[in-house]
Amino acid sequence: MKAIVCNEFGPLENLEYKEMPDPVAGSGQVLVKVEACGVNYPDGLLVQGLYQSKPDRPFIPGSEVAGEIVAVGDGVTDRQVGQRVVAYSGQMGYASMAAVPAKSTFLLPEGADAAEACAMIIGYGTSHHALKQRAQLKAGETLVVFGAAGLTGIAAVQLGKLMGATVIGVVSSPEKGEIAKQAGADHVIGYDNLKDEVKALTGGKGADVCYDVVGGEAFNAASRFMGRNGRLLVIGFASGEIPKLPVNLTLVKEYAVVGVFWGNFTKAEPDVYHANMKELFGWWSEGKVKPMVADRLPLKDAQKVLEKVLGRGGVGKYALIPE
Ligand SMILES: NC(=O)c1ccc[n+]([C@@H]2O[C@H](COP(=O)([O-])OP(=O)(O)OC[C@H]3O[C@@H](n4cnc5c(N)ncnc54)[C@H](OP(=O)(O)O)[C@@H]3O)[C@@H](O)[C@H]2O)c1
Repeated sequence: MKAIVCNEFGPLENLEYKEMPDPVAGSGQVLVKVEACGVNYPDGLLVQGLYQSKPDRPFIPGSEVAGEIVAVGDGVTDRQVGQRVVAYSGQMGYASMAAVPAKSTFLLPEGADAAEACAMIIGYGTSHHALKQRAQLKAGETLVVFGAAGLTGIAAVQLGKLMGATVIGVVSSPEKGEIAKQAGADHVIGYDNLKDEVKALTGGKGADVCYDVVGGEAFNAASRFMGRNGRLLVIGFASGEIPKLPVNLTLVKEYAVVGVFWGNFTKAEPDVYHANMKELFGWWSEGKVKPMVADRLPLKDAQKVLEKVLGRGGVGKYALIPE
């Protein structure tokens, strides 16, 4: 099979596109002939050794694959050859074949698009968990979404609307603003004067929930625009800066800072995770959420795509397609 291999942590250009032995379906696994591999921001950090976890090298990065099951391993009773699935694969995703635990797969609805299916896993999975379990977002509340034209940001905008919130999308360019509007944002603003703009749009009350994938100065502004009983969600630090919070602000304004780590959640609360994914796949089938796929590129172009995503040029979901 063909795969993208990280031989050693280092710059993205060190990633190698090469022939690798075909994987086999081990006990409890299914072998998937990959139609699409999902690209995620953390993939680019992982291969550079800049992520929380540091896998042994060499390894094949990529956490999402969608495609057809071509073999099943011992002990697999609820999956069959010929079924189309999407899997949260952990690693091994940037490849034309992937052996993944049967338990990590979700059956695809008839005719489902493989790239959209990948977006449903980390992109929608993270935003859904963040808004549902961590923020407990309620209808009528105001949700501010940073990076609202990014992968998880678009999902947060769509899910926030579905949950009945008024959504303020925050983006860095007019083009990204159009995407946030298409996703359903009620208001779209930039990062300048964030505190004043959010205060003005909420009639001085401040935000009930903020979905922060950016950190740095954007987080500092959020720490000053949160409303009473608000929940400031810490999702990621795309700005590269992990901010420091003057905790007196949380005392004075009575809001909470709430961490979100979707990957750990899937392991710590598997039943809740599966219930979440069932709900998300239902909404997707009914057209209530619609992943926005920005581009589908050949698998060999993984480096180019990761450069774009890490370089703030990404909008929505990118998928790699094995030849
Ligand atoms: N906690 C979790 O469980 C979890 C799960 C998935 C992802 N994450 C993290 O969440 C963050 C966003 O992930 P994503 O998939 O939404 O990524 P994405 O599609 O690349 O979106 C990130 C957004 O951040 C904004 N941004 C601001 N400053 C940036 C900079 N210096 N470089 C790049 N982007 C910048 C960009 O929007 P503007 O240009 O409009 O500002 C961009 O659209 C990442 O840090 C990722 O590691 C965390």
